[in-house]
Amino acid sequence: LPPSEFNQTVIRWQSEHGRNELPWQLEQDPYHVLVSEFMLQQTQVATVIPYFSRWLHHFPTLATLASASEDEVLTQWQGLGFYRRARNLHKAAQYLQDTYQGQIPAQPQLLQEVPGIGPYTAGAITAFAFNQPAALVDGNVKRVFCRYFGIEQVPTSTAADKLIWQLAESYYPEQDNRSYAQGLLDLGATICTPRKPNCISCPLRASCYAYQQQRVDDLPTKPPR
Ligand code: ADE
Repeated sequence: LPPSEFNQTVIRWQSEHGRNELPWQLEQDPYHVLVSEFMLQQTQVATVIPYFSRWLHHFPTLATLASASEDEVLTQWQGLGFYRRARNLHKAAQYLQDTYQGQIPAQPQLLQEVPGIGPYTAGAITAFAFNQPAALVDGNVKRVFCRYFGIEQVPTSTAADKLIWQLAESYYPEQDNRSYAQGLLDLGATICTPRKPNCISCPLRASCYAYQQQRVDDLPTKPPR
């Protein structure tokens, strides 16, 4: 499908079948999105939910987090693992407090200057917090794109990474980036799953390369072992 039909299909599917009650979706507060995206970097949604709620109870605003001690921050993170994320989130809050008086910028380029924020998180904050256009590629999006577009390279390879980011740049919509981005992640998490994807329920199957070619189990290509 051309980009506009592709993204409208994802947006329509998201509003009917996607996840719209996740705790960090409720307020559309950029600080909430920031915290949730750091927590979700290496941890699943179901695990993150209780930590996220406790976190907001302890550090209700970016300013409270920025002025907390590292000990307090690590205590609240306890159990989530990958403690570098906690230290980075703390540094990010201090950086945003110092650089932007606690405002979170709405541009991926500026967000990538923030400690702990890479291309994925920058895109996620732009789309989820501000509903602004941004490419966003994580493992879910890579899997959906490898199947939909018939990308044969191993998705972790530099070549595939570059190609998928380029596609992501040309396929996001002008409007409704929040629903579009959430729809891509939701499709990857609930329909276009690593094993036994539920193609029958997929809104993209009529134009999906892997589905049409019966290559769903081959794509994305597994790394050599
Ligand atoms: N992973 C990262 N961000 C997410 C979000 N907003 N919803 C579901 N999974 C996610």
